[in-house]
Amino acid sequence: MRSSRSADALKPEREGILAVLQEPSTIDRIQGIIRELQLDDELTLTDTLDAALRRIRSGAAPRILLVDLGDSSAPIAEVSAARAVGGADLKLVVLGTVNDVALFRDLLSAGASDYLVKPSTREALTAILEKTAGPLGTTPDGLGQVIVFIGSRGGVGATTSAVSCAWLMANERRERVALVDLDLHFGTVALKLDLDPGSGLCEALEQPSRIDSLFIERAMIKVTENLRVLAAEASAAQHLAIDAGAVDMLLHELRRKFVRIAVDLPRGASPMQRVVLAAASQVVVFCERSLAGLRDTIRLQTLVREQAPQARLWLVEAGASGERAPIGKSEFEKGIGKSLDASLSYDPKSAGASTNSGQPLPAAAPRSAIVRELRQLTALLVGPAPAAAKRRMFALPSLW
Ligand SMILES: Nc1ncnc2c1ncn2[C@@H]1O[C@H](COP(=O)(O)OP(=O)(O)O)[C@@H](O)[C@H]1O
Ligand SMILES: [Mg+2]
Repeated sequence: MRSSRSADALKPEREGILAVLQEPSTIDRIQGIIRELQLDDELTLTDTLDAALRRIRSGAAPRILLVDLGDSSAPIAEVSAARAVGGADLKLVVLGTVNDVALFRDLLSAGASDYLVKPSTREALTAILEKTAGPLGTTPDGLGQVIVFIGSRGGVGATTSAVSCAWLMANERRERVALVDLDLHFGTVALKLDLDPGSGLCEALEQPSRIDSLFIERAMIKVTENLRVLAAEASAAQHLAIDAGAVDMLLHELRRKFVRIAVDLPRGASPMQRVVLAAASQVVVFCERSLAGLRDTIRLQTLVREQAPQARLWLVEAGASGERAPIGKSEFEKGIGKSLDASLSYDPKSAGASTNSGQPLPAAAPRSAIVRELRQLTALLVGPAPAAAKRRMFALPSLW
């Protein structure tokens, strides 16, 4: 979905592409793509990063700073310097020769918006140079937004809600959505959508050097036009040696391609969880109004505050708790120190219809109260549905 709240509208003063490139072949490529995309960006070339930063200091405000650091002996320091001079909203794209997860992470934490290994694919370069007429919700660097869903306890309906919200974003809001199940052994996202998850996600996470856009495209399962799923069903006995850096890289790759990345995240405090939380723009915790639910909601509030200070935290009354919710709402809210942001009701009939049909709630029980509440939750996450989209939504034939 395109929005008038584009990055360009917010930052009208940024214009053009400033590139620090030495190789004629790379320069030709970039010029070719700019012509093909009919971008009105002016391409300014300099030989050294120093020269580029001098231009910025003296008033140039490019939309993108593209820097080939293939020959640099101190790429991290150079990226930090470029970010410091260029400002927080500059899109800082680094080209290099080394394909290494550790370097990739270091560059990102030093301030790079993206890192491409030469020779970069046309597709990757195009995605970067295209105007990020930022869809509503993209982060300032023009990448998609990670939304994390966590249950305060098991069985509270976190996965059901994550699948439903992702489905609503993709099919009613027409946004490109990736739904990722990071419970690699026992996750149920694929099960709820009646899909065979395949082995792509485990392979990608165990061999991060293979994570590129083509590989991910193959590992993802198409659910509808705008919804793709990445999940696994590793055998219970299989030990997975997963590097948190691989998860970081995977999320980054997904953020290039999708406007929303909905992550069903198992509870815990492993490095993988920390990396996911650090990448999140929003975290949704589904709260069970029980004693254990209260304790764990409070713990998760602390975890999110510590690991995801940048993220908006939403506390949502879980739908599936049913009779396991003996604590009154106001008492619970007193315990967590704030009001719940949304509520999902207990609706075993719709949940059963969804399970039996292998379809998410919005497809299995479109007129139920629970789906109305899930639409409200989706509106919290991605903004209210525009009136036109609402009309279209009711006119849409089933996509299943
Ligand atoms: N709002 C709801 N009302 C009743 N049952 C629900 C609701 N949401 C989910 N369920 C059911 O509760 C069970 C657990 O849901 P699930 O989404 O897998 O929970 P979690 O991911 O938190 O473990 C499933 O059988 C699901 O169909
Ligand atoms: Mg679950």
